[in-house]
Amino acid sequence: MSVLVIGSGGREHAICMALSKSPKVDKIYCLPGNAGIAEIAECHNIGVMDFDNIIKFVKEHKDIDLTVVAPDDPLAGGLVDLLESNGMRAFGPKKNAAIIEASKAFSKNLMKKYGIPTADYVEFDDCDSAIEYVSNAKYPLVVKADGLALGKGVIICNDRQEGVDAVKEMMIDGKFKDAGKKVVIEEFMVGKEVSVLCFCDGKTVVPMVSSQDHKRAHDNDEGLNTGGMGTFAPSKIYTPAMAQEVYDTIIVPTVKAMSAEGRTFKGVLYCGLMLTSDGVKVLEYNARFGDPETQVVLPKLESDIYDIFNACIDGTLDKVDIKWNDKTAVCVIVASGGYPEAYAKGLPITIDKLDDGVILYHAGTAKKDGVLVTNGGRVLGVTALADDMDKAREIAYANVKKVHFDKMFYRTDIGIKK
Ligand code: AMP
Ligand code: GLY
Repeated sequence: MSVLVIGSGGREHAICMALSKSPKVDKIYCLPGNAGIAEIAECHNIGVMDFDNIIKFVKEHKDIDLTVVAPDDPLAGGLVDLLESNGMRAFGPKKNAAIIEASKAFSKNLMKKYGIPTADYVEFDDCDSAIEYVSNAKYPLVVKADGLALGKGVIICNDRQEGVDAVKEMMIDGKFKDAGKKVVIEEFMVGKEVSVLCFCDGKTVVPMVSSQDHKRAHDNDEGLNTGGMGTFAPSKIYTPAMAQEVYDTIIVPTVKAMSAEGRTFKGVLYCGLMLTSDGVKVLEYNARFGDPETQVVLPKLESDIYDIFNACIDGTLDKVDIKWNDKTAVCVIVASGGYPEAYAKGLPITIDKLDDGVILYHAGTAKKDGVLVTNGGRVLGVTALADDMDKAREIAYANVKKVHFDKMFYRTDIGIKK
């Protein structure tokens, strides 16, 4: 059996590595992949939104038995529907379920209708009304573009001016194109954040181990929001009692709500949670594995991911025993100077020999004339596993120092926050 993975980041490298451990998977293909993925998968330069060529590729490679669609854009665009309508097996939600991530207005309305705890909000598709609202609101508040905006469509506003500017940027200046034509304006919540990714087959939902992301670019949560600068798993603050509360009040109700709406969710449901003084609330849903959460969650998976993917497709997840190891995993992202704003590409990378057991995930890398070079903002992720957090951190950072390229930077405090 061969498996095709769609995507090119650290998350996709982690998915490919997990698949490569399955005795049932003979070969992995990745579109388009990156230089690290190319060491374990056959990569071809077909973009994740080039649906015609993706379908053609699967048709031409009869050994492909399963396609895993990892990124948000092709899921929201209906790639899973298209693969299925061509008689192909695909892992990931269909378009009508991926909307739980692709439209914040949809997800907020779903939570309101089904009593799932989240921040209070109002939704606007008319700019004048939105400006009138932010002119008279209490601060801080949060302005969110309705659609997909590379994780950048969320602006925390501290005063009226910032609120008006955020609405104008999204609704008039078109900073996030169509994604910002509609906005959701939310109550500002205070608390620690935890990510809980879940496998779903439409009926059964199995949470993976919890993790925590570090979204800001610099130490002490300073600097701009990024796609994520590092993660650890499990979360130390997400207690078993809290996990049960979240399962009962958020995870199961969400999956049931999606089915009740005729939008059966199969794939990975990512619940971004905030632990507020008023209980756990949903910050956002994603319809996919998180990046870089996957780079700490999947190294803890002891079961065969190929079996789990198939069980999600076939509706047999209740028959699979999913096991995790007891290690603490820490992933430090090594980024290119300037990220999340403009950064250079094509900088040569050298890597000294890493310690045994340390995993180097490639995110934005490529090979140019045989030389490994940077090809994105988040370039590499170094994951270490150990019996406790201090040891895992120590190993991860000792190995980050073995990576070298011009203007590289990374946070030095991944795993320190409680
Ligand atoms: P999102 O993409 O919706 O997860 O938002 C990105 C980040 O913005 C979150 O991880 C939070 O740190 C922050 N954020 C989003 N919504 C809120 C909110 N209602 N209150 C406080 N912070 C928020
Ligand atoms: N790390 C956050 C995300 O994948 O959306």
